[in-house]
Amino acid sequence: MNRTLVICKPDAVERGLVGEILARFERRGLRLVAGELRLVDKDTAATHYAEHAERPFYGELIEFITRSPSFVTVLEGPEDTWSIVRTMMGATNPAGAAPGTIRGDYGLETTENLVHGSDGPESAQREIALWFPGLSAPGEA
Ligand code: RTP
Ligand code: MG
Repeated sequence: MNRTLVICKPDAVERGLVGEILARFERRGLRLVAGELRLVDKDTAATHYAEHAERPFYGELIEFITRSPSFVTVLEGPEDTWSIVRTMMGATNPAGAAPGTIRGDYGLETTENLVHGSDGPESAQREIALWFPGLSAPGEA
């Protein structure tokens, strides 16, 4: 089994879509192993999105992710669970995301794109350690 980090971002919580989003992952067969509603502080947001620090959208991204609580979760499933989750999330810009994906069904704007998912096994491991340092980590994440 392996694990990945999923964040239902502030827009998802504000719009009351957390249940619907998590239900999709659960119906697919992925299992919740951790989950908490958290108001993300700027330091954690900056660490989480460090790879984007020099990008023009970085300020807007940090403002958004810290503006109201997010529902932060760890999901567990088969090999490359991170990839299964990313496929279900859809493209970063919801305007171009395929119908049937979370972003393609619920979103229209790039910043307010509802969900975050780790983008590889190393990211999953790093992000789970950042958000849930107490969680044991079977498999690669
Ligand atoms: P995430 O990290 O949140 O799962 O999203 P992602 O992998 O699909 O996209 P990524 O390239 O990692 O970008 C992180 C978040 O930054 C915002 N963004 N804005 N205005 C823009 O051009 C732009 N590009 C990215 C989005 O909120 C994206 O989810
Ligand atoms: Mg990303």
